[in-house]
Amino acid sequence: MQQNMHKVYIYKRFERFWHWVQASLIMFLALTGFEVHGTFKIFGFEKAAEFHRTASWMLIGLIIFAIFWHLTTGEWRHYIPTTKQLKEQVIYYISGIFKGEHHPTERTGLSKLNPLQRIVYLGFKLILVPITIISGILYLLYKTFDQNNIIIIEDYPLASIAFWHTLGAILLMIFLVVHVYMTTTGKTPTSNIKAMITGYEELEDDQEEVKVENDSKHN
Ligand code: HEM
Repeated sequence: MQQNMHKVYIYKRFERFWHWVQASLIMFLALTGFEVHGTFKIFGFEKAAEFHRTASWMLIGLIIFAIFWHLTTGEWRHYIPTTKQLKEQVIYYISGIFKGEHHPTERTGLSKLNPLQRIVYLGFKLILVPITIISGILYLLYKTFDQNNIIIIEDYPLASIAFWHTLGAILLMIFLVVHVYMTTTGKTPTSNIKAMITGYEELEDDQEEVKVENDSKHN
């Protein structure tokens, strides 16, 4: 029997803006960062380093806005980890998905992340991104001088800062590949990506979901 579908508003305007700008900046930082690392040559070392520094300030600015937005809107609650149905979700991605089974959890406007996404995205926000950004800031400040001509950071060997930063960058690239694959596992291969572009996702009518009020509240 053909199911009736309806649209649910999942991703708010700022969230979509932040998601795509952050994704673009991280990819650009990877491109320029791995050139600085010596992996390939596109812009030339000097330009790559300059672009990398500029983009890193943009990412820091964006993340400050995103933290503010998550705290003031209460959206941070979507990332509270839960073990409820976590096992079912993992088993689904390992096996059920290849047998055409239904998703064990349903997305709603009020609970937009499944238990596995909650844990993975929380780790991304609280571990992976901070490792890369904090080591990046230490890298930026390494042996730069403040107004009193005092060297800001020199106690840590540059090699260990570079190690953590490169590790963060490699893990971010692994995250990116897995994340892009996972986005294709929604109702249709493109439904999750469309939701992150338009804000709306099509759900079946019998799904228990709480519709987020009207569009005027969507900001
Ligand atoms: C706010 C975030 C970031 C800051 C402040 C930052 C800063 C830096 C700095 C200062 C360098 C040394 C090159 C130079 O002197 O210009 C560097 C290198 C590098 N960055 Fe970043 N970066 C950030 C984010 C990222 C991201 C998101 C990636 C990749 C996904 C990345 C990948 C790399 C790589 C691979 C290197 C070369 C490391 C080496 O071989 O020593 N960076 N970064």
